Amino acid sequence: MNNTFKQTDSPIWDELADHRQSQQNFRLVEKFAEDPTRFDKMHVSGANLILDYSKNLVTEETLTLLVKAAESLNLKDRIAAMIRGDKVNTTEDRPALHTALRDFSGRAPFAADIDAAFSKMKAIVDQVHSGQWMGCTGLRITDVVNIGIGGSHLGPMMVTDALKGFSKGAVKCHFVSNIDSTDLHSVLDLVAPEVTLFIICSKSFTTLETLQNAKTAKAWLEAKLPEAKNATGKHFLAVSSKSGKAGEFGIPDTNVLPMWDWVGGRYSLWSAIGISIAMSVGMDNFNRLRKGAEAMDQHFQSASLDQNLPVLLALLDIWYVNYWGGQSQAVLPYCHRLCYFPEFLQQLTMESNGKSVDMNNKPISYPTAPVTWGTVETNGQHSFHQLLHQGTGFIPVDFIAELNPGDDEHHAHLLANCLAQSNALMNGKSHEDIKTELMDAGMTEQNAQVQAMHRQIPGNHPSNTIVFERLTPEVLGSLIALYEHRVFVQSVIWNINAFDQFGVELGKKISQQVYTKLVEDGTDAEFDASTEGLIGIYKKAKS
Ligand code: F6P
Repeated sequence: MNNTFKQTDSPIWDELADHRQSQQNFRLVEKFAEDPTRFDKMHVSGANLILDYSKNLVTEETLTLLVKAAESLNLKDRIAAMIRGDKVNTTEDRPALHTALRDFSGRAPFAADIDAAFSKMKAIVDQVHSGQWMGCTGLRITDVVNIGIGGSHLGPMMVTDALKGFSKGAVKCHFVSNIDSTDLHSVLDLVAPEVTLFIICSKSFTTLETLQNAKTAKAWLEAKLPEAKNATGKHFLAVSSKSGKAGEFGIPDTNVLPMWDWVGGRYSLWSAIGISIAMSVGMDNFNRLRKGAEAMDQHFQSASLDQNLPVLLALLDIWYVNYWGGQSQAVLPYCHRLCYFPEFLQQLTMESNGKSVDMNNKPISYPTAPVTWGTVETNGQHSFHQLLHQGTGFIPVDFIAELNPGDDEHHAHLLANCLAQSNALMNGKSHEDIKTELMDAGMTEQNAQVQAMHRQIPGNHPSNTIVFERLTPEVLGSLIALYEHRVFVQSVIWNINAFDQFGVELGKKISQQVYTKLVEDGTDAEFDASTEGLIGIYKKAKS
């Protein structure tokens, strides 16, 4: 892949490339030593969040050039176009209007449809919470099982888990996604059929995993509770843009909440797909989550580019991916309630921008979405941080931390570890310092020389630190919207459509053909020798 990044004929791309050349010997520690106000200049707040981006491999000139590059692509206009509902998803000829779902002004596109959907959602949630909604034996619902996958699972699960502290305690929410039945059965083992409500979340209502899990759940329910056969509506809800298909499954129209083609799956937690969140925390807290996202949407639209959190983060991403060769990015929440956040972000970032054809239908010759990964901390410190500190890769890190979750002996340790890691990644520790320490402790110079080779930490690794006071619904809403918009800004600069995902289709299609060959004899489908060999081994194992 040609690594030269030249998005338009504007001279800005050459200026950025030249500037990168001039930063060959960039050392973060030197920059902090040279400018005691670096932190003051390079941290910014907006919509409930504070971003410290001072530990990045940038100078003020770098940022000026990156902002100029964004301006040269009319970023402000592109943001406005997305939010007003232009068809930014060009390949599917539709808008991407997740922002409308958290716009409380009443002026967003489709405002009336959105209001109607949320009214229906609220009515259902209230009925379940009050005990008015009963299972087919007349008992109130105590357990809700969300069956969905991808965007119909990751967002709702991540938010429900993160906001456990705001739960109304009316129902327990469970999440099932995988086609491996172990997932479903591990939940069915915990619930009683009389008091369980299944929510089938699928925008398309064609997704194999979701439909198979829904079918098995229905069979389980009816086997345990024969009365449920004629009362599917008491135990099943659906959220889908295909109410007809939900109807074919046996879910009455009254129990189907709408989804629309103008909401991408990975952005759908803001729609009725988020009903399991509301089942847990109530509609009031779901609305607080939406409010937080709306605050970030407003910041995104109104803040100048050099003070704009999602824009700054995206520009730093471009700097690393297209000028420093970064292919991977770690997201490390120092907040246990964000434990599913990295997984959620994997779909958001990689399904959106893992593309290699641009908006002009031309092959892309520069790198796009880096691999996003991470885990909740401090767990990662005891596994992969070795690679962050001493590996050969170039991996920018996002640290995310809560400042004041309440009095607790643990929290200051957690935060201290967060700050220590970004400090260590930046400063490292030199060969000379380690050698001196070892010799002071009595080691011979020869041994200390060798030992110091293995113990030195190069440092100069870039990171962002995003902090907030407390993980409230508003803060979480802002945090999710921050990353959504960051992904959008990246897509503008990479000139790609962030809202389609055709790449996932081929494997789905082949799996149907393989399935036919696995379970039925006499199919004509022929695969490569490896696949055929493995099918043969499977058949032998099953015989
Ligand atoms: O296969 C990928 C995908 O289409 C995602 O984009 C989507 O979030 C997920 O599957 C689930 O899709 P659906 O909600 O239509 O079941």
